[in-house]
Amino acid sequence: MKTKESINPSKLKNLKTERLLLREFEISDIDAMGPIFADPEVMKFSRGVKTRKETQAWLETCGSNYTELGFGLWALVRKDNRALIGYCGLTLFPDICGKKEVEIGYRLAQAQWGFGYATEAARAVRDYGFKELGLDRLIALVDPSNTASIKVARKIGMEFEKEALLDGYDHPDHVYRIERTP
Ligand SMILES: CC(C)(COP(=O)(O)OP(=O)(O)OC[C@H]1O[C@@H](n2cnc3c(N)ncnc32)[C@H](O)[C@@H]1OP(=O)(O)O)[C@@H](O)C(=O)NCCC(=O)NCCS
Repeated sequence: MKTKESINPSKLKNLKTERLLLREFEISDIDAMGPIFADPEVMKFSRGVKTRKETQAWLETCGSNYTELGFGLWALVRKDNRALIGYCGLTLFPDICGKKEVEIGYRLAQAQWGFGYATEAARAVRDYGFKELGLDRLIALVDPSNTASIKVARKIGMEFEKEALLDGYDHPDHVYRIERTP
Protein backbone atom coordinates (compact mmCIF):
# COMPACT_ATOMS: atom_id res chain seq x y z
CA MET A 1 0.00 0.00 0.00
CA LYS A 2 1.35 3.40 -0.91
CA THR A 3 2.08 5.94 1.76
CA LYS A 4 1.68 9.65 1.08
CA GLU A 5 5.47 9.95 0.80
CA SER A 6 5.83 7.16 -1.75
CA ILE A 7 3.11 8.29 -4.14
CA ASN A 8 4.37 9.50 -7.45
CA PRO A 9 2.25 12.65 -7.95
CA SER A 10 1.68 11.84 -11.61
CA LYS A 11 0.05 8.59 -10.55
CA LEU A 12 -2.18 10.03 -7.89
CA LYS A 13 -5.73 9.06 -8.75
CA ASN A 14 -7.77 11.43 -6.67
CA LEU A 15 -11.01 12.46 -8.32
CA LYS A 16 -13.68 14.84 -7.14
CA THR A 17 -17.35 15.06 -7.99
CA GLU A 18 -19.95 17.46 -6.68
CA ARG A 19 -20.51 15.48 -3.48
CA LEU A 20 -17.74 12.88 -3.42
CA LEU A 21 -14.02 12.49 -3.20
CA LEU A 22 -12.53 9.36 -4.77
CA ARG A 23 -9.20 8.37 -3.26
CA GLU A 24 -6.94 5.35 -3.00
CA PHE A 25 -7.78 2.82 -0.30
CA GLU A 26 -5.49 2.35 2.69
CA ILE A 27 -5.28 -0.62 5.03
CA SER A 28 -6.78 1.54 7.78
CA ASP A 29 -10.03 1.66 5.77
CA ILE A 30 -10.80 -1.84 7.04
CA ASP A 31 -13.04 -0.48 9.81
CA ALA A 32 -15.27 1.27 7.28
CA MET A 33 -15.18 -1.42 4.57
CA GLY A 34 -15.54 -4.44 6.94
CA PRO A 35 -19.24 -3.82 7.74
CA ILE A 36 -20.04 -3.04 4.09
CA PHE A 37 -18.55 -6.36 2.88
CA ALA A 38 -20.17 -8.19 5.81
CA ASP A 39 -23.70 -7.07 4.82
CA PRO A 40 -25.47 -9.89 2.91
CA GLU A 41 -27.75 -7.39 1.15
CA VAL A 42 -24.77 -5.42 -0.19
CA MET A 43 -23.08 -8.65 -1.31
CA LYS A 44 -26.23 -10.31 -2.67
CA PHE A 45 -25.12 -10.25 -6.31
CA SER A 46 -21.49 -11.23 -5.73
CA ARG A 47 -19.73 -14.21 -4.18
CA GLY A 48 -21.19 -13.60 -0.70
CA VAL A 49 -20.03 -11.68 2.35
CA LYS A 50 -16.36 -11.18 3.21
CA THR A 51 -14.69 -11.82 6.56
CA ARG A 52 -12.44 -9.15 8.04
CA LYS A 53 -9.42 -11.13 6.85
CA GLU A 54 -10.83 -11.27 3.30
CA THR A 55 -11.53 -7.53 3.46
CA GLN A 56 -7.92 -6.93 4.44
CA ALA A 57 -6.75 -9.06 1.47
CA TRP A 58 -9.11 -7.07 -0.79
CA LEU A 59 -7.59 -3.79 0.43
CA GLU A 60 -4.11 -5.18 -0.25
CA THR A 61 -5.14 -6.12 -3.79
CA CYS A 62 -6.43 -2.59 -4.32
CA GLY A 63 -2.99 -1.35 -3.28
CA SER A 64 -1.12 -3.58 -5.71
CA ASN A 65 -3.48 -2.68 -8.54
CA TYR A 66 -2.74 1.05 -8.07
CA THR A 67 0.97 0.28 -8.32
CA GLU A 68 0.90 -2.32 -11.08
CA LEU A 69 -1.95 -1.07 -13.30
CA GLY A 70 -2.17 2.61 -12.41
CA PHE A 71 -5.84 2.19 -11.55
CA GLY A 72 -8.11 0.19 -9.28
CA LEU A 73 -11.14 0.46 -7.05
CA TRP A 74 -11.25 3.77 -5.21
CA ALA A 75 -12.72 4.73 -1.86
CA LEU A 76 -15.82 6.94 -2.05
CA VAL A 77 -15.75 9.62 0.62
CA ARG A 78 -18.64 12.01 1.14
CA LYS A 79 -17.44 15.60 1.12
CA ASP A 80 -20.08 16.75 3.60
CA ASN A 81 -19.23 14.43 6.49
CA ARG A 82 -16.01 12.68 5.33
CA ALA A 83 -17.70 9.25 5.66
CA LEU A 84 -16.26 6.43 3.56
CA ILE A 85 -19.40 4.98 1.97
CA GLY A 86 -18.10 2.33 -0.44
CA TYR A 87 -16.11 2.03 -3.62
CA CYS A 88 -16.20 2.78 -7.29
CA GLY A 89 -13.41 2.20 -9.75
CA LEU A 90 -11.82 0.07 -12.41
CA THR A 91 -10.87 -3.61 -12.47
CA LEU A 92 -8.92 -5.41 -15.17
CA PHE A 93 -10.49 -8.67 -16.31
CA PRO A 94 -7.95 -10.58 -18.43
CA ASP A 95 -10.53 -12.80 -20.13
CA ILE A 96 -14.17 -11.92 -20.68
CA CYS A 97 -15.33 -14.04 -23.62
CA GLY A 98 -11.69 -14.21 -24.77
CA LYS A 99 -11.07 -10.47 -24.45
CA LYS A 100 -9.17 -8.24 -22.00
CA GLU A 101 -11.65 -5.79 -20.47
CA VAL A 102 -11.68 -3.00 -17.90
CA GLU A 103 -14.78 -2.95 -15.75
CA ILE A 104 -16.41 -0.10 -13.84
CA GLY A 105 -17.53 -1.47 -10.48
CA TYR A 106 -19.44 0.13 -7.59
CA ARG A 107 -20.63 -0.95 -4.16
CA LEU A 108 -22.07 1.23 -1.41
CA ALA A 109 -23.14 0.79 2.20
CA GLN A 110 -26.89 0.15 2.24
CA ALA A 111 -27.68 3.36 4.14
CA GLN A 112 -26.24 5.32 1.20
CA TRP A 113 -28.35 3.76 -1.56
CA GLY A 114 -30.80 5.82 -3.56
CA PHE A 115 -29.08 9.20 -3.33
CA GLY A 116 -27.39 9.07 -6.73
CA TYR A 117 -23.89 8.55 -5.30
CA ALA A 118 -23.11 5.47 -7.44
CA THR A 119 -24.14 7.22 -10.65
CA GLU A 120 -22.16 10.33 -9.71
CA ALA A 121 -19.03 8.32 -8.95
CA ALA A 122 -19.35 5.99 -11.95
CA ARG A 123 -19.69 8.97 -14.30
CA ALA A 124 -16.44 10.44 -12.97
CA VAL A 125 -14.66 7.08 -13.21
CA ARG A 126 -15.91 6.61 -16.79
CA ASP A 127 -14.55 10.02 -17.79
CA TYR A 128 -11.29 9.34 -15.98
CA GLY A 129 -10.92 6.01 -17.79
CA PHE A 130 -11.44 7.58 -21.18
CA LYS A 131 -9.72 10.96 -20.76
CA GLU A 132 -6.88 10.28 -18.33
CA LEU A 133 -6.16 6.61 -18.93
CA GLY A 134 -6.98 6.64 -22.65
CA LEU A 135 -9.08 3.47 -22.51
CA ASP A 136 -11.15 2.76 -25.62
CA ARG A 137 -13.90 0.83 -23.95
CA LEU A 138 -15.32 0.09 -20.52
CA ILE A 139 -17.71 -2.60 -19.41
CA ALA A 140 -19.91 -3.32 -16.41
CA LEU A 141 -20.60 -6.91 -15.40
CA VAL A 142 -24.05 -7.02 -13.87
CA ASP A 143 -26.33 -9.71 -12.54
CA PRO A 144 -29.47 -9.54 -14.73
CA SER A 145 -31.67 -9.14 -11.63
CA ASN A 146 -29.62 -6.30 -10.14
CA THR A 147 -31.95 -3.50 -11.19
CA ALA A 148 -30.11 -0.72 -9.33
CA SER A 149 -26.78 -1.65 -10.89
CA ILE A 150 -28.28 -1.88 -14.39
CA LYS A 151 -29.78 1.58 -13.89
CA VAL A 152 -26.38 3.00 -12.90
CA ALA A 153 -24.76 1.40 -15.98
CA ARG A 154 -27.45 2.77 -18.28
CA LYS A 155 -27.39 6.23 -16.67
CA ILE A 156 -23.69 6.56 -17.49
CA GLY A 157 -24.36 5.65 -21.11
CA MET A 158 -23.71 1.92 -21.15
CA GLU A 159 -25.70 -0.51 -23.23
CA PHE A 160 -26.28 -4.24 -22.98
CA GLU A 161 -23.87 -6.16 -25.18
CA LYS A 162 -23.87 -9.87 -24.31
CA GLU A 163 -23.89 -12.49 -21.57
CA ALA A 164 -20.74 -13.81 -19.87
CA LEU A 165 -20.39 -16.70 -17.41
CA LEU A 166 -17.80 -15.78 -14.76
CA ASP A 167 -15.84 -18.19 -12.55
CA GLY A 168 -17.73 -19.05 -9.37
CA TYR A 169 -21.17 -18.08 -10.72
CA ASP A 170 -23.95 -20.47 -11.73
CA HIS A 171 -25.61 -18.16 -14.25
CA PRO A 172 -24.29 -15.61 -16.75
CA ASP A 173 -23.80 -11.95 -15.94
CA HIS A 174 -24.84 -9.29 -18.40
CA VAL A 175 -22.07 -7.30 -20.03
CA TYR A 176 -22.87 -3.61 -20.49
CA ARG A 177 -20.42 -1.56 -22.51
CA ILE A 178 -19.52 1.96 -23.52
CA GLU A 179 -16.94 2.95 -26.13
CA ARG A 180 -14.92 6.14 -26.06
CA THR A 181 -16.28 8.65 -28.54
CA PRO A 182 -13.93 11.07 -30.30
C1 LIG B 1 -25.87 -0.74 -7.23
C2 LIG B 1 -25.62 0.39 -6.23
C3 LIG B 1 -24.13 0.71 -6.19
C4 LIG B 1 -26.42 1.60 -6.66
O1 LIG B 1 -26.08 2.66 -5.78
P1 LIG B 1 -26.99 3.97 -5.60
O2 LIG B 1 -26.10 5.06 -5.12
O3 LIG B 1 -28.18 3.62 -4.81
O4 LIG B 1 -27.40 4.26 -7.08
P2 LIG B 1 -28.10 5.62 -7.55
O5 LIG B 1 -28.69 6.32 -6.38
O6 LIG B 1 -27.12 6.32 -8.40
O7 LIG B 1 -29.35 5.08 -8.36
C5 LIG B 1 -29.30 4.61 -9.65
C6 LIG B 1 -30.71 4.21 -10.03
O8 LIG B 1 -31.05 2.97 -9.39
C7 LIG B 1 -32.27 3.13 -8.67
N1 LIG B 1 -32.20 2.27 -7.51
C8 LIG B 1 -31.45 2.44 -6.40
N2 LIG B 1 -31.65 1.40 -5.58
C9 LIG B 1 -32.55 0.59 -6.18
C10 LIG B 1 -33.14 -0.65 -5.85
N3 LIG B 1 -32.83 -1.28 -4.70
N4 LIG B 1 -33.99 -1.23 -6.73
C11 LIG B 1 -34.30 -0.61 -7.89
N5 LIG B 1 -33.75 0.55 -8.28
C12 LIG B 1 -32.89 1.14 -7.43
C13 LIG B 1 -32.33 4.59 -8.34
O9 LIG B 1 -33.66 5.00 -8.07
C14 LIG B 1 -31.77 5.19 -9.61
O10 LIG B 1 -32.71 5.17 -10.64
P3 LIG B 1 -33.50 6.49 -11.09
O11 LIG B 1 -32.48 7.52 -11.40
O12 LIG B 1 -34.28 6.01 -12.25
O13 LIG B 1 -34.32 6.87 -9.90
C15 LIG B 1 -26.07 -0.04 -4.80
O14 LIG B 1 -27.41 -0.46 -4.86
C16 LIG B 1 -25.22 -1.15 -4.21
O15 LIG B 1 -24.18 -0.90 -3.63
N6 LIG B 1 -25.68 -2.41 -4.37
C17 LIG B 1 -24.95 -3.54 -3.83
C18 LIG B 1 -23.67 -3.81 -4.58
C19 LIG B 1 -23.90 -4.04 -6.04
O16 LIG B 1 -24.84 -4.73 -6.43
N7 LIG B 1 -23.02 -3.47 -6.86
C20 LIG B 1 -23.08 -3.62 -8.27
C21 LIG B 1 -22.45 -4.89 -8.68
S1 LIG B 1 -22.52 -5.05 -10.46
